[in-house]
Amino acid sequence: MISIKSKHEIELMKEAGMMVSKTHKYLQKYIKPGITTKDLDELAEEYIRSMGGIPTCKGYEGFPTALCTSINDEVVHGIPSNRKLKNGDIITIDMVIGYKGYQGDAAWTYAVGSISDEKKYLMEHTEKALYEGIKQVKPGAHIGDISNAIEIYATKHKLGVVKELVGHGIGTEMHEDPDVPNYGRPGCGPKLKEGMVICIEPMLNLGTADIEILDDDWTIVTRDEKPSAHYEHTVLVTKDGYEILTPRLD
Ligand code: MF3
Ligand code: CO
Repeated sequence: MISIKSKHEIELMKEAGMMVSKTHKYLQKYIKPGITTKDLDELAEEYIRSMGGIPTCKGYEGFPTALCTSINDEVVHGIPSNRKLKNGDIITIDMVIGYKGYQGDAAWTYAVGSISDEKKYLMEHTEKALYEGIKQVKPGAHIGDISNAIEIYATKHKLGVVKELVGHGIGTEMHEDPDVPNYGRPGCGPKLKEGMVICIEPMLNLGTADIEILDDDWTIVTRDEKPSAHYEHTVLVTKDGYEILTPRLD
């Protein structure tokens, strides 16, 4: 069942989303060679709690930290550790924040220092693929319209589309119906209605789409060890289109 949020619920989701945006902005200045992902996680948790938010990932199915930090060939769900960021890395920071029982969720990939042209290409086109998907959102559109727009854009730019992980509905839970795949056919899947809120989140690879999971049972990496990028927004279906609840503040 896909929940329709009331006006009041939408207000709370906007606040949760804004906390996610602010935390991304707050972390950005620290993303430099030498900092550890654990440092970033501690900064994030303190900042989230200072706003009255809850870092939802921490303790979710046993996940240990507030942030997911995924470097280079790590696609998603990297666990913060003593690993130091190096010049030329890319890092995806993914976080979910709860506020008064409602969730906001956004992931963005960041450059550490100066990065290669191919990593720039990957980041630019993964973010653009996300917006291609978001542009489809309006009442009456189908989930497949979003999925297809992302797949077409990614394929045109010769990027591998990760299929095993998908976007999702969001509300009081971080993962609600419907699934929002990054591949599919237009006109297929559930129909969007005003008041639904979904997370759209392409994970695109510079190489093939194939992934594997590390021994920590969380970190997903590309099989060919080529870099991967991931951009995600929480998006509200409005009367005639959409509103991004996790806007970039930079
Ligand atoms: N943003 C991620 C998602 O969309 C959050 C899951 S991380 C977890 O699925 F560690 F909490 F599982
Ligand atoms: Co998500």
